[in-house]
Amino acid sequence: MKYTLVTGCDHGVGLALAEQLALRGYRVAACRMNEEEHLADGLAQRFPDQIQVFSLDISRDESVRALAEGLPFPALDLLVNNAGILGRMESGPDESLDFDLMLQVINVNALGTLRVTTAMLPLLRRGEQKTVINISSEAGSIQDCERTGWYGYCMSKAANNMQGALIHNTLRREGGRVFQIHPGHVATYMRGHLDTTAKITPDISASGILKTVLDGNHETGTRPLYLDYRGEPLPW
Ligand SMILES: NC(=O)c1ccc[n+]([C@@H]2O[C@H](COP(=O)([O-])OP(=O)(O)OC[C@H]3O[C@@H](n4cnc5c(N)ncnc54)[C@H](OP(=O)(O)O)[C@@H]3O)[C@@H](O)[C@H]2O)c1
Repeated sequence: MKYTLVTGCDHGVGLALAEQLALRGYRVAACRMNEEEHLADGLAQRFPDQIQVFSLDISRDESVRALAEGLPFPALDLLVNNAGILGRMESGPDESLDFDLMLQVINVNALGTLRVTTAMLPLLRRGEQKTVINISSEAGSIQDCERTGWYGYCMSKAANNMQGALIHNTLRREGGRVFQIHPGHVATYMRGHLDTTAKITPDISASGILKTVLDGNHETGTRPLYLDYRGEPLPW
C-alpha cells in the first residue's frame, strides 16, 4: 500500500488529485480547509477504504501539528502541497498595496507549504518514494516574470520554489525528491468565481501532474525539477 497526503482538497486541483491518486491505488489523506465544503466527503464515500478526510489550515502551526499527530499512516510515499490562495491581483505598484493580505498569502503559499512538509518529514522518511509535489505556479518564476502586479502571489510562489529547493537538498541525500509544479491555467474558483478564461479542467491538470511525476522518468538531480503539468520545464 502506498500512502499520500494532499492539501486543499475542498475543490479544484486538490480534489481532482485526491481522486486520481485513489484510482492509482494510493491511500489518501484528503485535507480540506473548510468543514462546510463536502466534496471531499463525497469522494471518501466513493473510496471508503482509501480516502479519509481531515481538516487542515496550513496557515496555523496548531492545525498542522494536530494533523501530524493524528494521521493514522505508517509512512508517506507522496506529499502533495496543493493548498494556496491568490490574494489581490493589483495591476501595479501605484495601486495601494495591501501588505496585511500579502502576509497572509505568503503565510499560506510559502510558509504553509514548508510547515506541512517539515511536520510530515518523519513519515516521509519512512516512505519508499519520499516524493514531495509542491503546486507552485509559473507566477513564481523570477526569470520569466512579465507581470507588473500580483505582488503577494508572485512573491509567495517564488518563496515556495526556494523552500522546495532547500527541502530537496535534504531529501535527495535520503533517496527522495521534490517537484515544483505549475498546474496550468485551470478552471477553478481561486479568483472567487469560476475562471472561465482558463484553458484546462482540474481533471486534466491533475492527470498531467501525476503522469509527469509518477510515470515520467525524470532523473533525481541535485536541483529539484520545476515543471508544468505536461512535464515541460520552467525557468527558475
Ligand atoms: N487555477 C490556476 O489557474 C492555477 C495556476 C497556477 C497555480 N495554481 C495553484 O494551484 C493550487 C490549487 O489551486 P486551485 O486552482 O485548485 O484553486 P482552489 O480551488 O481555490 O484551491 C485551493 C485550495 O486550497 C485551500 N486553502 C486555501 N487556504 C488554505 C489554508 N490556509 N489551509 C489549507 N487549505 C487552504 C482552499 O480551500 P477553500 O477554498 O475552501 O478555502 C482550496 O481547497 C494553488 O496552490 C494555486 O496557487 C492554480
